Amino acid sequence: MLRVKIENSNPVTKKTEMLCGFVLENSDKILGLNKINSKISDSIRQSLRDNEGVFGRVTIVPTNNKTPAKRILLAGIGKKEKITNDTIRFVSGKIAQKASELKLKEFSIITPPSFLIEPISSASQITEGCKLTLNKFDNFKSKKGGPVPNLTILVSQSSKNSKDIKNSEIISEGVIFARNIANLPPNECTPTTLATFAKIIAKKNKMKCIIFSPNELKKKGFGGITAVGQGSKNEPKLIVLEYMGGKQNEKPIVLVGKAVTFDTGGISLKPGEKMDEMKFDKCGGCTVLGIMKALSELKLPTNVVGIIPSVENMPSGESYRPGDILKLYNGKTAEILNTDAEGRVILADALAYGEKQYSPKAIIDFATLTGACIIALGNNVAAIVSNNDKLKQKINESSKRTTEEVWELPLNNDYMDLIKSDVADMKNVGIGRAAGTITAAAFLRNAIEETPWIHIDIAGVAWTQAATKSKPYNPKGATGFGVRLILDYLKKI
Ligand code: BES
Ligand code: ZN
Ligand code: ZN
Repeated sequence: MLRVKIENSNPVTKKTEMLCGFVLENSDKILGLNKINSKISDSIRQSLRDNEGVFGRVTIVPTNNKTPAKRILLAGIGKKEKITNDTIRFVSGKIAQKASELKLKEFSIITPPSFLIEPISSASQITEGCKLTLNKFDNFKSKKGGPVPNLTILVSQSSKNSKDIKNSEIISEGVIFARNIANLPPNECTPTTLATFAKIIAKKNKMKCIIFSPNELKKKGFGGITAVGQGSKNEPKLIVLEYMGGKQNEKPIVLVGKAVTFDTGGISLKPGEKMDEMKFDKCGGCTVLGIMKALSELKLPTNVVGIIPSVENMPSGESYRPGDILKLYNGKTAEILNTDAEGRVILADALAYGEKQYSPKAIIDFATLTGACIIALGNNVAAIVSNNDKLKQKINESSKRTTEEVWELPLNNDYMDLIKSDVADMKNVGIGRAAGTITAAAFLRNAIEETPWIHIDIAGVAWTQAATKSKPYNPKGATGFGVRLILDYLKKI
């Protein structure tokens, strides 16, 4: 894992294998770097012209031992007016890729001056961009990638930067943790494996961890989790993590994450094409684990409960079937018309449990819930559905800051009607393919009473897919979407 150090020193005298600075479009200077050795100023000028400050373009200038830095890297960040929250994160990722390609042991990045971007946020973005870019999932490769270079961030005033960078490191490591478990293959990651991960982070960071076994689930009335899980020899689990960083009797925020360790569709079997990707159907749960880990390391002063219903959805002689009627945790009944719409069934149990057990201030759920979400919004924006404007607004603000993008879909009573059943309180599919993401959310809405709730459908964004915008800090595989978003939200409340 990439380690980050912060230094308040003059970049001109910095001894490093690669000194990296940002360059605005068609600019003749490197931001934050003044008075470089005149013996190389000609070649820097030429390289600046070559680079043109084009967004994401990197140019290396050899220094031939004329400066303490072995090379200088120019990193284009485009037009000043077009700089967004993601610019420095993205371009820092490009720099990190170059450092790794050159097999460097270390490299240094100069933070741009504060008139462009707040120095705090740019140091944080550099940290996130570099760390998230250089984590490779090579657990199952015989030949591992080489060591990861270390990064020094050069700042003009150290002030509270070092705390910010430490926090950004924790956040990035939360994302990486979520990604690494989500990337595990389904033969190596069952509901029991996820429960073990939860126990490990709970022990390390002093959280309470409760795991419900199949018997307890049945006894306590978790009819949804029990039914979906019964077709697999890998037992279902309900994982609960309690972080109590706030006042003792302060109501918590409840986070719920779908963790289907493999979704074959069950008796309503999925077609074979791309079925392997359904190992990522646990991404919602992995996001919650990543958040809980980071949150407890950041020691945020809030109470947060993570709830992860985990099953493997398999076809077998014991599987639940289309036609079955289940009794969910809140007492409502659900007619199953498609066993592939399993996520909403297990989430309904978990949401109802979260509301009843904890009377939370708010409930946020993450799920790779519907293929329809990819049809509606593609692979770069998650869908949100909510019953509360304030909560929605806060999530939207965090989304802007973290560039984990969300877009709202409506949920009025007409949609609620689409999941009415002839024989039970509701059915687990809507009508044909109409508004598939919303009818799934309607099912979840029925699981809770009036608690402020937001549902985040991450089907399109949880891992890199066909139409995913390529970003250096989102390497192939699980993205850990939601970890940065919700940590930002939790930091702000
Ligand atoms: N896990 C899938 C949703 C999914 C599919 C996410 C592809 C990402 C990529 C979910 O359990 C599912 O299969 N949903 C069905 C619901 C349908 C049967 C009403 C779907 O979306 O097709
Ligand atoms: Zn499914
Ligand atoms: Zn699923």
